[in-house]
Amino acid sequence: MKVVPLEAPLGARIEGIGWQDAGKPEVATALNRALGEHLLVVVPGRPMTAPQMRDFARAFGTPRAQLLRYKRNNEVPEVSTMVSTLMADGTTDKTALRSEDWHTDDSYMAVPAKATLLHSMEIPSHGGRTWFCNMHSVYEALPEATKKRIDGKRAMHAYDTPRASNRPSPRTPQEIAETPDIEHPLVRSHPDTGRKALYLNFNRLDRILGFERAESDALLDELAAEARKPRHHFVHQWTVRDCVVWDNRATMHRVDVDYPMGERRIMQRVLIEGDKPF
Ligand SMILES: [Fe+2]
Repeated sequence: MKVVPLEAPLGARIEGIGWQDAGKPEVATALNRALGEHLLVVVPGRPMTAPQMRDFARAFGTPRAQLLRYKRNNEVPEVSTMVSTLMADGTTDKTALRSEDWHTDDSYMAVPAKATLLHSMEIPSHGGRTWFCNMHSVYEALPEATKKRIDGKRAMHAYDTPRASNRPSPRTPQEIAETPDIEHPLVRSHPDTGRKALYLNFNRLDRILGFERAESDALLDELAAEARKPRHHFVHQWTVRDCVVWDNRATMHRVDVDYPMGERRIMQRVLIEGDKPF
């Protein structure tokens, strides 16, 4: 297995492995080391069925089912099918539109996912690129005065917040009961490397605790402005059957919703069990 760092603020390409190699302990160790160091790994061009993807994902930890039941694969609930095809009649899955802004997966949970795997099954003829942001470098780029202001601060994450530009997919009563608002540190430490990362989510982070709403909004806008700078970003142009794995503890991601109406864009996704942020 070869790890080839990308010429970007994050990311590495993995060469010389297939999904069936991920069960080998030395491969799993190398993949996790690459993920901690580069925050994102691209495994190109290997087709995986849902059970094969679950098995491959086990190299990164324990796969877990996602919140929204309608996305779960019937046979393999840890694998979900993400349909972001744009429909002219407006029946497009809301998650597709919501993914247009920067977010980290599952921050509305007490124990958010460590990593996400996304495997492209069908892609449009053009567009639909996914962007990734290195939240270590965003934190490190902040002025010292801002770092002092946010030191030790906690933030409230909610399934929806008026700060987000799009509304989320509707939840069933059971799913609502499973997703109360949740507090996380605004700056978290990576459990593998100890590096600090700004823990933002433009779709879920509602307010910083201990501030008035207006002050919290202004500070969140300032932090967001740093995260939006291209110097922290890498963009992935999908090829069918790519598998991209990212570290949710120190990255955000977003998708370009710029692909042609009616062209199918279908991904398989697996979330990996994480730790409580600290
Ligand atoms: Fe996402």
